[in-house]
Amino acid sequence: MAERIYIFDTTLRDGEQAPGYSMNLEEKIRVARQLETLGVDIIEAGFAISSPGDFESVEAIAKSVNDVTVASLARALEKDIDAAWNAVKKANRPRIHVFLATSDLHLQYKLKMSREEALERIKKEVSYARNLCPDIEFSLEDATRTDLDYMCRVVEAAINAGATTINLPDTVGYASPGDITDMVSTVINRVPNIDKAIISMHCHDDLGQATANSLAGVKAGARQIECTLCGIGERAGNTALEEVVMAMKTRPDIYNAETNIKTEELCRSARLLSSITGVRIFPSKAIVGDNAFAHESGIHQHGMMANSKTYEIMTPESVGVVKTNYVLGKHSGKHAFSKKLDELGYVLPEAEIARLFDEFKKLCDRKKNVSDRDIVALVESTEAVAKQTWSLSSYVVNSGNKITSTACIALKNGDKVIEGVASGTGPVYASLRAVEKIIHHPFSLDDYQLQAVTEHRDALGEALVKISDGSGVYRGRGVSTDVIEASILACLNAVNRMLEGGSSSISGGKPASSLSFDNDMLVGHTDKEVE
Ligand code: KIV
Ligand code: ZN
Repeated sequence: MAERIYIFDTTLRDGEQAPGYSMNLEEKIRVARQLETLGVDIIEAGFAISSPGDFESVEAIAKSVNDVTVASLARALEKDIDAAWNAVKKANRPRIHVFLATSDLHLQYKLKMSREEALERIKKEVSYARNLCPDIEFSLEDATRTDLDYMCRVVEAAINAGATTINLPDTVGYASPGDITDMVSTVINRVPNIDKAIISMHCHDDLGQATANSLAGVKAGARQIECTLCGIGERAGNTALEEVVMAMKTRPDIYNAETNIKTEELCRSARLLSSITGVRIFPSKAIVGDNAFAHESGIHQHGMMANSKTYEIMTPESVGVVKTNYVLGKHSGKHAFSKKLDELGYVLPEAEIARLFDEFKKLCDRKKNVSDRDIVALVESTEAVAKQTWSLSSYVVNSGNKITSTACIALKNGDKVIEGVASGTGPVYASLRAVEKIIHHPFSLDDYQLQAVTEHRDALGEALVKISDGSGVYRGRGVSTDVIEASILACLNAVNRMLEGGSSSISGGKPASSLSFDNDMLVGHTDKEVE
């Protein structure tokens, strides 16, 4: 019988810790709900002690999901464990994840503790945590650089103190698959009470080995894998959830393992993360990248036509790839549209479907054939912003290689329509500056990205922006067949979040560092204004 492997998702903790991936409360809850739909076994929702915002989001996630364990990270300290417990205790299945480094390097230089002192601390704090919560994970941080004899003593003591999962992280991505096999086999063979706990792998990707190492752990007897969507995480990231899951599914002959993951939800989960964080999925990313199932070369295409197995080891459908089907257009009615939303897996309230249908109709006036990917872009670009303070009424932009670009923009706020005119070195610059003048709230543009959603000339353009105003960083997304309109919509999406206040900030009140654009690009610019 296949071995059941538990999937512990740490997108919202280790993943969110990585620069550029921070999310606000509402976004974390959306990701957590999607992870539940995806079928992960454990969601590590955050590090409750690290900030009031983290505590609040771990607690909110614990209350928002039902059928999944919710964990919070805690150092081996009572105050951390108390915070973790207070944040997760309302979950149907709470877990406290306690960690302490065990390598001599970390003990000597970071913790300034002897091995014996660390062992005593682990016994004390794991048993403290176990008195609060029945499900305790203990992680030996930097396990792959820990002395194996000492590791076996720590694991035995942690299990005796009440740990039910023992995690052996490759914290710095240093190990090779052979090292992992040796480490896991040693622990299984030498720790007398190991049958009372599950062994978990948590691998970082510094040498590009995280997936191989996690799978080596499974082969050697680990039963939990800690991973993140698209492998996001500290430095080079963590093990990618979609990779380990599909490796085990595609090669039962090697792993003889099964998970609870609904693999058809993999692409949607990755897309949701990308649309929330504004970080694109690399086109050749295994499993969920745009090119993961694209066959360009003639030889491959020929083989695929004869028998798809020649070049395809798994089907695009099995991971939920959205195909470009031109099925909807100007004459499609609301029924066909809502059926399409259904097929694409969107369960939305009636009012939201009606609103999207209006957007779809507007799109049909500009684009003859509307593909599944266009519809996905439409749905994902119009995620809710609690208060839609400003909306676009109209715009005229004048641009050329021999003139300074000018933008005349009219924005609606309640019943009022306010116009602003501005100039700039390009049409996007001029437009964003006009928006800034209308809203009377200066902001910097920290990042701007533009890409086509589909291949054709009438493709939808998707703009992603990050703006900041000194008290927070705000993301926005907009799609349109006109890239200037997409840019203005993305800017307004971010502006509305900014005006909505702190809860939608993604940086906890810290101004983000400038990414690809000059921070001063909008604020304080001295260009001549038209009006
Ligand atoms: O990489 C690591 O060691 C960790 C632990 C805290 C589990 O993230
Ligand atoms: Zn980690």
